[in-house]
Amino acid sequence: MSDETPVEQWNTSAEGWAHWAARATDYLVPATERMLDLANVKPGCRVLDVGCGSGEQTIIAARRVGDTGHVLAIDVAASMITATEKAVRKAGMRNVSTRVCPADALVDDGERFDAAISRLVLMLIPDPVAAARAVQTVLRTGGLFAAIVTGDPTKTTYNAIALDILARHGGKTDWEDRPGSIRSLVDPTRLEAVMANAGFTKVAVSSISTIQRLKSAAAATTMIREGFAFYKAMIAHLPQQRQDVAWNELEQALKRFEDADGFAGPGEVNLVVGRKP
Ligand SMILES: C[S@@+](CC[C@H](N)C(=O)[O-])C[C@H]1O[C@@H](n2cnc3c(N)ncnc32)[C@H](O)[C@@H]1O
Repeated sequence: MSDETPVEQWNTSAEGWAHWAARATDYLVPATERMLDLANVKPGCRVLDVGCGSGEQTIIAARRVGDTGHVLAIDVAASMITATEKAVRKAGMRNVSTRVCPADALVDDGERFDAAISRLVLMLIPDPVAAARAVQTVLRTGGLFAAIVTGDPTKTTYNAIALDILARHGGKTDWEDRPGSIRSLVDPTRLEAVMANAGFTKVAVSSISTIQRLKSAAAATTMIREGFAFYKAMIAHLPQQRQDVAWNELEQALKRFEDADGFAGPGEVNLVVGRKP
């Protein structure tokens, strides 16, 4: 959508993403724990985290697998891997390793994982079936892959409003159903088909409502502006002044989610799990 490739977009967003992820992803903890339950992540497990970002779910998984387990965190963006390494050091975890690697470039090098997890990544990959198939290659037989993807946009109200405003300003009309669009896997049937077509069995899809709390609508707008690569790309081709107009409209629109305690943004995520036969 902008001249930057998706990888460049993630690399340039890593600092902003890490800043906000460290402060504003607590709302995803229940869904993350559910993803780990679905993948049967337990003490001693070897876990692959696909698209680790700045490592928040990597650390939750690493705490669960403990000293006898291990988490390998991969991401397509080198600067995200740097952010994860920093977060892992800060958390004092010694059972995490990292690698710059796109999901679909995972190859069978003999290493096997008991489980794979992925939070808010699969829908952004243009060929999610190829990515899920590559993940399967490195799982042991019977290993589980559980992922969180964005959910029903009518329930993800604040994200839906933000995307609609930015797309309108950026003149984007046909972005929703495109491969790699943030909304590409909101339909549970499509999500299930991705995993089934990648060869997973016992595929199950569920969803969880979320509520993201921030200080204000202004803080929510800054978070999107600094850290959300897909959203920023909607208007990145516009001159700065026109971008500012879009951001201002967004901030005004998000004020509807302010209450006495600040900003409370409702949303929904989908979860999927499948087993390597
Ligand atoms: C929305 S962020 C989610 C980060 C993290 N999992 C979280 O939930 O906080 C998406 C992440 O997926 C990574 N990513 C995008 N495409 C990828 C691919 N093909 N393979 C691996 N990582 C990818 C991005 O670099 C970014 O770090």
